[in-house]
Amino acid sequence: MEEVKVLLLGSGGREHAMAWALAKSPRLTKLWAAPGSDGMASLAERVPLDPLDGAAVARFCREKEVELLVVGPEAPLAAGVADAARAAGIPVFGPGRDGARLESSKAFAKAFMARHGLPTAKARVGGTAEALAAVRELKGRCAVKADGLAAGKGVVVSSTLAEAEAAVAALGGTAAGATLVVEELLTGPEISMMAVLDGKSYALLPASQDHKRLLDGDKGPNTGGMGALCPAPLDAKTLATIRAEVFDRALKGLAADGVDFRGVLYAGLMLTPEGPKLLEFNARLGDPETQAILPLLDADFLELCLACATGTLKARDVPAKPGACVSVVVAAEGYPDSPRAGAALTPEAASGLDVVVFHAGTRREGGRWLAAGGRVLSVVGLGPDLASARERAYAAVPRVAGPGLQWRTDVAAKVLGRTLA
Ligand code: AMP
Ligand code: GLY
Repeated sequence: MEEVKVLLLGSGGREHAMAWALAKSPRLTKLWAAPGSDGMASLAERVPLDPLDGAAVARFCREKEVELLVVGPEAPLAAGVADAARAAGIPVFGPGRDGARLESSKAFAKAFMARHGLPTAKARVGGTAEALAAVRELKGRCAVKADGLAAGKGVVVSSTLAEAEAAVAALGGTAAGATLVVEELLTGPEISMMAVLDGKSYALLPASQDHKRLLDGDKGPNTGGMGALCPAPLDAKTLATIRAEVFDRALKGLAADGVDFRGVLYAGLMLTPEGPKLLEFNARLGDPETQAILPLLDADFLELCLACATGTLKARDVPAKPGACVSVVVAAEGYPDSPRAGAALTPEAASGLDVVVFHAGTRREGGRWLAAGGRVLSVVGLGPDLASARERAYAAVPRVAGPGLQWRTDVAAKVLGRTLA
């Protein structure tokens, strides 16, 4: 069994979960993280490298004989860091800039979906004038989206013309919004379906579900994600449709477009009365979905990443253990607009509770853990089913978090007792 040295890019809760999963592999001999976090310091040696600097990342990989570069977030992918490392001969889990465009440009993604027959909402793409004409045509019942990367703040769903016009004005004035996408409104439950690709084939990860709104009952502003569950209960027919109409077509489309995609293709889907439709593609693992998916994989995550990076994926779905995970995100008060740092945390209080705690925005100071970001921790309950996983997560949350912090109390409540679609 060949041993592998790995560099992981990123510092969030998703990357802590990825480091945790990589560290379980008997093949891992060394793990570096750039920039990493205090929370993952026990798993990975932190390196002061700019994860957006492809030349510096490639140089580090050459010097340290890194055998696998794993890219967590979207920004390094969009910046071409995977291309730079690949050009230096390093196997990379993460697509090049061409594949990452499926996430970094919503206009490009819509054109890809149209060209290759993937189901999605009807849309018009253009500048502010075109977008205003489109929202008027739809009488304001639409989703207005900035074309570029906007850290989860680039989409406004509106139900009145005034709201839609305000969204066009607001998003049209941002760097990501020089081009806008205006979509008809879709309805139905949302799921996140991710596949790992090796350039020629794909394997699905178990379906998951994010909770994007800040407050219980799906109220309040959209956030990076306040909780997740896995597996999302999905009937076999819907799953087969997603496979055939989304992933098979995406794989063919990528091949037809000459894109050698090695990494994660994330489909944000709405299960509408007319069938599953794509809301968006991402070119990386979801956050906070990953925190609920990785503990359930019955596969060596390092092997999986390496197989994708080297084009040797076995084209079958990634096996999952029986059981379920529910992940509750603990955020700082004031998140998402103006999170207040400094609240005390006691993640160690979750030990022995069938819970894993992943750090997203924390720092270690004077022997204590303190909140240091918007989203602070993911508290992941594991159990034989969603109900018990949920109970375990919520039993642990008040032990690890207290004043100055907020979390949703209804993660996984909606899906319990019924299947999606
Ligand atoms: P996106 O980043 O494109 O996935 O959009 C963020 C969120 O906006 C999604 O998770 C949906 O909740 C909502 N959304 C996006 N597009 C639509 C649409 N066409 N119809 C209804 N809701 C949408
Ligand atoms: N959880 C949504 C995302 O990662 O984009």
